[in-house]
Amino acid sequence: MTGPSVDELRDTATAAVSAVGGQLSSGFRSPMRVDSKCDARDLVTEHDTAAELVIRELIGRRWPEATIVGEELGGTPDTELVWYIDPIDGTSAFVQGLAFFSVSVAAVVNGEPAAAAVYDPIADELFSADDEGAYLNGRRLPSLPERNEQESDLITGFPNARNLDENREKYLDLFGSLVETYRSVRRISSAALSLAYVAAGRADAVLGANVRPWDIAAGSLLVRRAGGKYRGWDTGGPTTIGFEGPVYCAHCPGDHTVLDSTAETIHSIRRQPTTSPGRHKR
Ligand code: IPD
Ligand code: CA
Ligand code: CA
Repeated sequence: MTGPSVDELRDTATAAVSAVGGQLSSGFRSPMRVDSKCDARDLVTEHDTAAELVIRELIGRRWPEATIVGEELGGTPDTELVWYIDPIDGTSAFVQGLAFFSVSVAAVVNGEPAAAAVYDPIADELFSADDEGAYLNGRRLPSLPERNEQESDLITGFPNARNLDENREKYLDLFGSLVETYRSVRRISSAALSLAYVAAGRADAVLGANVRPWDIAAGSLLVRRAGGKYRGWDTGGPTTIGFEGPVYCAHCPGDHTVLDSTAETIHSIRRQPTTSPGRHKR
């Protein structure tokens, strides 16, 4: 890659996610203000915005020419280097006091994730990636072993209530096939941390149908750098680097045909125009 040094980008990404570890750990399981955004399932707390502000300030100081796109405060990706921030990925778990959430920061250069950090402040685990590998607390993660879907554990939040509103019968059928195919299917709540867990070999596959760039830009790079397979669908077909969403899947090396075809089917259903004004695509 030409342009910014990947080492410096990774250094900024890890510094940014670490900078908010203390405030999120203290806020976790404490009384907090919680509001809803699109609907009652889409939550935001005072800690989401506060953490994003700290991260923006740190990145803006180091990379004044870059654009920053964050879940809570927005931004337009119109520079060569773009930073994607999710200050709390897994807000519903955070609100509930369930320790499966993360802070996610990715540096994207010319449309491709170049460096990434995903931090679990409760476990104090910092996952990061550069152009050479993926790391956990600074130590290189080994290449993922091959494992087929019958011997694999899948994490997915699919289908959610909005998906069911779009095509209940088909989506429940697809979910049933995943349950029948995989050794286990778990529904836990941070796309970024789920991808980090695939990179670390703690889960074997992950599928999502409602994500935004800040959810998966960092985690997708972690999986790829650990030797896993990642595919992201946006408006076009799948690519191995696409993070625009809303559909993506990732897995360790091996045959995951049911997962891949499920993601493909969800993508083709989701890109059909909706007929009901109450329905939305995320
Ligand atoms: C959500 C999480 C979840 C995914 C949702 C995201 P948030 O992000 O990543 O795993 O299924 O689509 O919106 O709202 O907790 O930052
Ligand atoms: Ca998120
Ligand atoms: Ca979030």
